[in-house]
Amino acid sequence: MPKKIAVLAGDGIGPEIVAEAIKVLSFLNTDMNLGLVFENALIGGAAYDAFGTPLPQTTLNLCKNADAVLLGAVGGPKWEPLAHAVRPERGLLGIRSELNLFSNLRPAILYPQLVEASTLKPEVVSGLDLMIVRELTGGIYFGQPRGVHVAENGEKVGINTKIYSESEIRRIAHSAFKIAQKRHKKLCSVDKANVLEVTELWRSVMTEVGKDYPDVQLSHMYVDNAAMQLVRAPKQFDVIVTSNMFGDILSDIAAMLTGSIGMLPSASLDANAKGMYEPIHGSAPDIAGQGIANPLATILSVAMMLRYTFNQPDAAERIERAVNSALDSKVRTADIYSEGMTKVSTSGMGDAVLNALKG
Ligand code: NAD
Ligand code: IPM
Ligand code: MN
Repeated sequence: MPKKIAVLAGDGIGPEIVAEAIKVLSFLNTDMNLGLVFENALIGGAAYDAFGTPLPQTTLNLCKNADAVLLGAVGGPKWEPLAHAVRPERGLLGIRSELNLFSNLRPAILYPQLVEASTLKPEVVSGLDLMIVRELTGGIYFGQPRGVHVAENGEKVGINTKIYSESEIRRIAHSAFKIAQKRHKKLCSVDKANVLEVTELWRSVMTEVGKDYPDVQLSHMYVDNAAMQLVRAPKQFDVIVTSNMFGDILSDIAAMLTGSIGMLPSASLDANAKGMYEPIHGSAPDIAGQGIANPLATILSVAMMLRYTFNQPDAAERIERAVNSALDSKVRTADIYSEGMTKVSTSGMGDAVLNALKG
């Protein structure tokens, strides 16, 4: 049985980076006889322009019937004036929610070749290897009530609700503890339990679930401190588990430790490791269409797909080694460029990875 991958390139740099990831994956598909088939569909602003909705039913059905989804990025200034319900980002959030992709893994690894690309001192970041586990289908992103209403006094009020049930916290806790068990067995749960009751519950459920994992050392940290610690001494962390919005923000901070947001892949998984794979960055409207975006986050997302959904660790490692070799060969996209390196385009970086795979 062929395994189907839904390919949603999206907006902005989305099509540019996805093309490079598909180039790499297609080669491996043939070389290792992986039996993958690809099917493209529209999402985000591109889908809105064609169908008047950021998540057409055909796209959602394709994703539901596929074994995995590869996504580029959605959004951009062109669609900012649209009503909330049809904004490109709703398409992405819709897939996460409809496919129940509650567990979002965002690994931040500093490739030693990129020490110079980080804005932090080498001794602070060298050897960095941390995993952020972000709850993805709950919290303030999805809580009701929400919206903008006119209050009794005629003034407008905006409202979003941060809400987590025990079962939602428990399942992301289990995901995070299991990941920590396979790593260095340290899990830091990030919350705001000193202020928000919802995260007081988060903390107590994390502690309770932790009793099932006595080999994992659980700690708790407030999110404001965690943001500071990530920049001060990021290597103190092994695995971080946190709620939807805190995870969104902390993973962009973690991205900069690795040199560029163009380096951070992600996997969004359901309870059966079916998943969507995407870089953590957005559609980068400021550089879209110029062929200069870094495709490595998307290429590394494909490696995560091979590892988590298709159970092909050898294929995943081949991609990761090829990325390493490409960086060894000193090619750099603009975002990770430093003196003495060779600046390459998006497709130049894709070619470097491909050549390393072939070599
Ligand atoms: P962004 O991540 O798109 O860009 C932030 C900065 O990082 C920009 O300067 C951009 O040029 C740079 N950057 C991002 N990816 C890069 C890459 N691969 N190579 C080199 N540089 C890269 O965030 P933003 O500007 O806040 O958002 C732009 C749009 O993207 C918005 O519409 C937002 O909603 C959307 N967005 C989508 C996703 C997603 O689809 N998963 C994620 C974040 C933001
Ligand atoms: C991300 C993005 C999305 C999020 C947006 C585009 C909905 O920032 O994947 O990190 O906030 O989750
Ligand atoms: Mn984000």
